[in-house]
Amino acid sequence: MNYQSIFIIVFFFPLLLVTSSTYVEVKQVVPTTFTVNKVNSSKIIVGVSWNGTNEADDEYVLTRLKCFNDAVTVINSPQDHVFGDHHTTYELAVHKNDVLVRCRTGIKDIMKWLTFFYFRT
Ligand SMILES: *[C@@H]1O[C@H](CO)[C@@H](O)[C@H](O)[C@H]1NC(C)=O
Ligand SMILES: *[C@@H]1O[C@H](CO)[C@@H](O)[C@H](O)[C@H]1NC(C)=O
Repeated sequence: MNYQSIFIIVFFFPLLLVTSSTYVEVKQVVPTTFTVNKVNSSKIIVGVSWNGTNEADDEYVLTRLKCFNDAVTVINSPQDHVFGDHHTTYELAVHKNDVLVRCRTGIKDIMKWLTFFYFRT
């Protein structure tokens, strides 16, 4: 073997590995929309929707909402759901108005995602 053919093997063999690889099916849950609905000065409803790929409708998922401010208290988190629900709402008691609140929502099957969002009470 001369240098040129060694070069060709070393250089092109990895490319061959890459191009012959196949895509593995990915299983994931992803958030789609968030809604924040001010019911009145002492109550806010936060809605979170999700979708995903390769998830069974009856697959168990755990959902959470946590807010990092004393101005609100999340009343009903965590929650048990199945993937097929696609949507949940959380009820928040508001203790102080016109405050910027940072919240983190999560949904977990075998993996989990966490998303942060802000709103003003
Ligand atoms: C806000 O709305 C909730 C539910 O609709 C009600 O129970 C509560 O009394 C209301 N609070 C005020 C201050 O209007
Ligand atoms: C979820 O994703 C699937 C596949 O991409 C799609 O067919 C379906 O309409 C989506 N559902 C919602 C509620 O967005």
